[in-house]
Amino acid sequence: MTQVEAERLVELAKRRGFFLQSAGAYGGVSGFYTFGPQGAAMKRNVEATWRDRFAIQEGHMEVDAPTVLPEPVFEASGHLDGFDDMLVECPECGESHRADHIVEDTETGIEEAESLAPERIEEVIAEYELVCPTCGTGLAGQAIEQFNLMFETTIGPGSSSPGYLRPETAQGIFIEFPQLAEYARNQLPFGVTQIGRAYRNEISPRKSLLRVREFSQAELELFIDPEVDEPDLSAVGDVSARFYPAKAQDCEGGGVIETTIQKAVDNGIIADPWIAYYLGVAAEWYQRIGLDMDRFRFRQHRPGELAHYSEDCWDAEGDVSDPGKEPDWIELGGFAYRADYDLSKHDAHSEEDFTVFKQYDDPVTVEKPTVDPDMSYLGPEFGGAAGDVADALESLAEDTPDAFEGEDVTVEVGGDEYTVPVEKTGFAVEEMTESGEHITPHVVEPSLGIDRALYTALDHAYREDEVDGEERTYLSLPPEVAPTTVGVFPLMDKDGLGERAHEIADDLREAGFAVTYDDSGAIGRRYRRQDEVGTPYCVTVDYDTLEDGTVTIRDRDSTDQRRVAVEDLAATVEALVAGEETFATL
Ligand code: GLY
Repeated sequence: MTQVEAERLVELAKRRGFFLQSAGAYGGVSGFYTFGPQGAAMKRNVEATWRDRFAIQEGHMEVDAPTVLPEPVFEASGHLDGFDDMLVECPECGESHRADHIVEDTETGIEEAESLAPERIEEVIAEYELVCPTCGTGLAGQAIEQFNLMFETTIGPGSSSPGYLRPETAQGIFIEFPQLAEYARNQLPFGVTQIGRAYRNEISPRKSLLRVREFSQAELELFIDPEVDEPDLSAVGDVSARFYPAKAQDCEGGGVIETTIQKAVDNGIIADPWIAYYLGVAAEWYQRIGLDMDRFRFRQHRPGELAHYSEDCWDAEGDVSDPGKEPDWIELGGFAYRADYDLSKHDAHSEEDFTVFKQYDDPVTVEKPTVDPDMSYLGPEFGGAAGDVADALESLAEDTPDAFEGEDVTVEVGGDEYTVPVEKTGFAVEEMTESGEHITPHVVEPSLGIDRALYTALDHAYREDEVDGEERTYLSLPPEVAPTTVGVFPLMDKDGLGERAHEIADDLREAGFAVTYDDSGAIGRRYRRQDEVGTPYCVTVDYDTLEDGTVTIRDRDSTDQRRVAVEDLAATVEALVAGEETFATL
């Protein structure tokens, strides 16, 4: 295993077409990246494996919602008020920085500064005499501002209809819940997935693809009845991973525990079985896309770190440290128990019903307080407010029937109090048979970042070795995510070799493989080019091909070569990609 410096990986990514900072012709723009031909292909493959594992294999739906949504959505979701980072501005150079990062990156020993109050951050900055990372000027005394991370826009001309670029794809799912529940025939549990762009106006984007302003999320919102729905843990119970619980982070000597999902639940490391289930699914997926599980862990959020909507949350983290350095853990995904936060908020803020009707096994008889106000009394007494008073009496009867025990009952409407004799309210407690009830489902959310997963897969796949006395760099990516599956080379572009190689490349494309044709330069150079973009197999067409109908197939990692009949080539590649055949036994 070779670790790679971030700088070298970013250089390779640009040179070979994985990703590059956007708008270079205009000086570049921080936090925005363009995926080149290799990166775009790899991203499609990574997304396809996510779709396969989290949507298709789990039997969940997939939707595709807009990236711009109107302001009321984010008023309801809490993002307008609570989706802030702490900003400190340098009094000398005017550069803005994330105050919590300045605290974490210096000698304070504080790890999760995001969970501290702005006042405490101000104190720490003063106490440790922290300085501007750009110009070195002291930041003591500078106010910490809360900076909302959403990009604001307007919908249509004028400014009367503000909209925001979505900071998470999730809200596009939550706001359509009433209709989605219909599609699911109102039966819990059901899951809705979405892969798409999300936007956060980061104060200081950094580390190339790892903190950007536009990125791709792959999210699953699972709607459950918390009283009855349980996951089938046996499906992932044996999956092993490293866990770093909140308590271990807070106590001296606390550490990472390596165990299986089932044992983590049995031992109380993971409290919620649904979260445990998706940690298992995700561990399998991260391994499938090529992460080194020795540089991977699940870390539980400490209470101060939890997002405004979250009751419990675990992060998937990958280590992307440079060689010889301390691990550099970056967040790859979050697994949050959002409870009924989102659906309750949208229910309260909109006109729609965000509940589902839960049928009881057997009907139950309940006592139901009701009112039937005497409007011939309320009308003359309260005039235009009579209707609202009647509604308020109905709500009061439902919530606080004891209020009707005296002679009078008082309700508040629009800040004014109205007192009504109980005999005029028509208050009664009726026995009713109910076949079910409306419940607000709870939400379990695995939310994975595609760009970071792709970056980490590249980082973990990076290898260096020596072949024929020459240094070689290659990416040991799983065939399923590698941008190209087969490189096809004619030994030389003469004597019909080029034509034959083109035919073979076309046949492989027709069989569904991503193929690169390359006839430029020495064959060794062509192998190196494919090695550097992680192409698992290369096929060379030579004079023997014309005579006996065989080609050479070469394995990227071992550089071993075998001769295979052209007619068997597609089936051989398919078996290798599927892991049904290995190069060693070919
Ligand atoms: N939906 C969770 C997140 O965006 O972090």
